Amino acid sequence: MKKFAIFASGSGSNAEAIWQAIDRGDLSGECVLLVTDKPEAKVLERADRFNIPTFSFEPKTYASKAEFEQEILVLLQALGADYIVLAGYMRLIGDVLLTAYPKQIINIHPSLLPAFPGKDAIGQALAANVPTSGVTVHYVDAGMDTGPIIAQQDVAIAGCDAAEAARRIQAVEHQLYPRVLQQVFIQQEVFK
Ligand code: GAR
Repeated sequence: MKKFAIFASGSGSNAEAIWQAIDRGDLSGECVLLVTDKPEAKVLERADRFNIPTFSFEPKTYASKAEFEQEILVLLQALGADYIVLAGYMRLIGDVLLTAYPKQIINIHPSLLPAFPGKDAIGQALAANVPTSGVTVHYVDAGMDTGPIIAQQDVAIAGCDAAEAARRIQAVEHQLYPRVLQQVFIQQEVFK
């Protein structure tokens, strides 16, 4: 069974959807660690409820990204993590982790990439007045929400206010992410 760590910076609703899918038996993987760069993030409370070990850190207390990624890498290797799953981790992944986990870092983003990368993708889509936005799951590279796309799903947002657009997009994220992770983990079991 594949082992993975989740990296998150905020509420953690996607992390919780992943842990629920594991508990239901819909996702065969073991989450060995939750990493957050925000020691006050709500995701930490959710991790406690699911008995997931956590590591929180304050980036500004390190000299560089390489330094905190190196510390995280030691933990990931000790726990035997095969994958890093980003779930609202609002920070670019650096060379240390990209080199250690080639094509093994996955991200979810609330738009149909390459449209609306970066922060507040839902707000960007509403401001552009597009009738349809969506969700993308992709492998992570050094860019901001770039990297090979694994799966996308449309979400109609015409006539939505910000709260309703976010509700629709997050509902799709919570279904799509565990499903795609299951596909990735199984495929790589078969072809390894
Ligand atoms: C999610 O909508 C995720 O797609 C987005 O952050 C939100 C986190 O919500 N990620 C990005 O925008 C990455 N560029 P959550 O903390 O409730 O899972």
